[in-house]
Amino acid sequence: MKTRILKVQSGQVLGRFSRDSDGRESLESWEVPAGGSDADMASLREAGEYLRTKDIPLAFPTETVYGLGADATRSGAVKGIYAAKGRPSDNPLIVHVSDLEMLRSLLSGSNSTMTTTASSDLIPGIYKPLIEKFWPGPLTLLLPNPDPSQLAPEVTAGLRTFGVRMPASPLARTLIKLAGAPLAAPSANASTKPSPTSARHVLDDLDGRIELVLDGGPCHVGVESTVVDGLCDPPVVLRPGGVSMDELRACGGAWARVEKAYRDGSELGGSGGAAPRAPGMKYKHYSPKARVVLYERSFVEGREGMVREDLETVLGEPSKRVTVGVVRTRRWPVAAGLRHSSLSRASQIVEEADADAAPAQRQSSANGAAKITYDVQQGDLYDEDGETEVGAILDIHLGRDVRSIAQGLFSALRELDSRGADVIFVEGIGDEEGIAAAVMNRLRKAASEIKT
Ligand code: TXA
Ligand code: MG
Repeated sequence: MKTRILKVQSGQVLGRFSRDSDGRESLESWEVPAGGSDADMASLREAGEYLRTKDIPLAFPTETVYGLGADATRSGAVKGIYAAKGRPSDNPLIVHVSDLEMLRSLLSGSNSTMTTTASSDLIPGIYKPLIEKFWPGPLTLLLPNPDPSQLAPEVTAGLRTFGVRMPASPLARTLIKLAGAPLAAPSANASTKPSPTSARHVLDDLDGRIELVLDGGPCHVGVESTVVDGLCDPPVVLRPGGVSMDELRACGGAWARVEKAYRDGSELGGSGGAAPRAPGMKYKHYSPKARVVLYERSFVEGREGMVREDLETVLGEPSKRVTVGVVRTRRWPVAAGLRHSSLSRASQIVEEADADAAPAQRQSSANGAAKITYDVQQGDLYDEDGETEVGAILDIHLGRDVRSIAQGLFSALRELDSRGADVIFVEGIGDEEGIAAAVMNRLRKAASEIKT
């Protein structure tokens, strides 16, 4: 199968939300002009048509990560997702809608003649403040799946609820609108690999397995959406993501009591050394080929040389040269304090919407895309006494800000993998601030070893 890339990056306005009676923008209807002859719209129309007719999913950008999308109402199309990804089919998929109109239609079921009005609103009241505040955006809501449902049974994997979100990316909403159906879409990586935050990442995993990749530039958020269940009391977060627990709490009402309902190893506690991990129990996810060693916090009093000490255990037999990757965030010194020769820039990773587009256009690019940029520095690695060369070091600094760390995280893991890293030491940032919980959750899942 030949994989084709369609660029949608000009920053053209693709559509707009309808206005309510007071003239304010409302999420009711995302309107896409019927005409429109520019290249972006032509590509999106082609992709929309593809989604309506084919049983092979296509990759498209959202503000979180690239999704592997298919018409959520057609079983054949949804089965194609599981096949392309190599994903077990007992894992439900997130449904993406362009607007509230589409969501209301889903909630009214498959043979309902009901016309939805404000007084017969099927969207549970508990979700109203969240929709108001975080949609369109990186928040997935669990909703009751009506019986009969418009959704193909493969989407929900037998559950009586479905997860749904309205993406912030205008490109994604326009694609959904043009497909004329909600899109089921998991992240567009091969199962177990780090999620893709650029079209190139998608190709690295799925080249030859799908026919179309819409390239809208890099993703703005860089980690997946937060999944919440507000149908139980207290409401819970099933997966941390682009909307933080604090932001949810700030919505008040029952959300002030929102609880964490996921486990990622952060609750294991312990002091120093590796957190216990039952062999075979580990659910491999977000994992590069390299062994990831995660330090929960960047600084532990009295353990300034911790990575250097840990390198000794990692090296084991000194007969084999190793390539050691380092991903730094807030405090670690260059190369995490490992002994090394002077470093030189191996490459500069710059992912942006369209390097040729004018800066003004880039800012308003179709995917609301960010610019991901960092250097990969390279040098020789020496052992503890600084005398024997034992391999190579690859150093990446993602920045100190949690948003830039989230944006670059998956990209950095993939970059080090492609450069043959055997082990990657990662400087964690704790759980406290904003979407740090999501960043740490993904890192804990990727890690073979966690240092507390
Ligand atoms: O940011 C995102 O959410 C990305 C982009 C592409 O939108 N999508 C994504 O989808 O991450 P996926 O399929 O990889 O995530 C699905 C996860 C499941 O693992 C599960 O945690 C949750 O969403 N989920 C979906 N439907 C559910 C349901 N009915 N009940 C419980 N959890 C559900
Ligand atoms: Mg995923």
